[in-house]
Amino acid sequence: MDCASHIYPDGSLGIHEMCFRVLEKEIVALCGPNGSGKSTLLEHLNGLLRPSSGNVTVMGKKLDLSHADIWRDVGIVFQRSDDQLFAPTVLDDVMFGPINMGMSIEQARTEAMVALKTVGAEKLSDKMPSYLSGGQKRLVCIAGVLAMKPRAIAMDEPTSDLDPLHAEMVENIILNLKNEHGLSIVIATHDMDMAARISDRVCIVKNGSIIAEGKPSSIFYDKELLETSGLRQPKVVQIYEGITKNMGIGLEKHPMNGDELVKTILSDFKVWCIPKHL
Ligand SMILES: Nc1ncnc2c1ncn2[C@@H]1O[C@H](COP(=O)(O)OP(=O)(O)O)[C@@H](O)[C@H]1O
Ligand SMILES: [Mg+2]
Repeated sequence: MDCASHIYPDGSLGIHEMCFRVLEKEIVALCGPNGSGKSTLLEHLNGLLRPSSGNVTVMGKKLDLSHADIWRDVGIVFQRSDDQLFAPTVLDDVMFGPINMGMSIEQARTEAMVALKTVGAEKLSDKMPSYLSGGQKRLVCIAGVLAMKPRAIAMDEPTSDLDPLHAEMVENIILNLKNEHGLSIVIATHDMDMAARISDRVCIVKNGSIIAEGKPSSIFYDKELLETSGLRQPKVVQIYEGITKNMGIGLEKHPMNGDELVKTILSDFKVWCIPKHL
């Protein structure tokens, strides 16, 4: 995406001169407060929205009216699952995309079952989508996109409104899609803890543009950047900063998840602790 801007029909600025790239097999987290332009950016990635100016290039193809099938390469999981689910059964819903792409009913059923299995929801195939829990609906939505076999998936606030168990399931699915299926995944989120745990790259979105990007271990330790962007540091970072400040020592390592935090504390702080039995 090169310098893409989008102005909505009512004059609102969705994104402004946005430059954004997704590489193969990477998880990119778009972090920004409400209204910063994350959803607008995602909807440009598969042609749902078209830029008012600038270009969007997907897999080397410039997005224009003659390439209206760009959605085959990039799938979107929407923030509200109810916007995506409409068929009488879960299986029908997940089969809809593949059928729409031209697969036979049999082929579509096979792809749909594989996709449901990938997200651990194969047992839900006969259920009515409207009776599912929020977490189950999210899994089915992800399966619906996966069944179309995209190269990249964009997910809008994939863990918002989910209970901790389903949020963890979705997090593991995202990692699995990258590691086992070789997909690129873009997540729009203000779940900074999840972004710290799973992303390879973080883009900070503010007022429709990416104002900073880099590895989570550098972006999430830049407290000033996050605060001026209306965001907060992940809890692991807050705890680590609290401990190091309290002990009067510098921030030498940059743990990004609970395990790394424990290991860092145990190894670096050994000298500061006197074991109980001495
Ligand atoms: N359909 C729309 N019509 C008009 N303005 C919109 C529409 N959707 C989003 N916007 C505006 O575009 C800006 C970016 O919104 P959005 O991309 O939804 O942000 P985010 O996903 O980061 O919360 C906001 O100012 C929002 O009010
Ligand atoms: Mg949004």
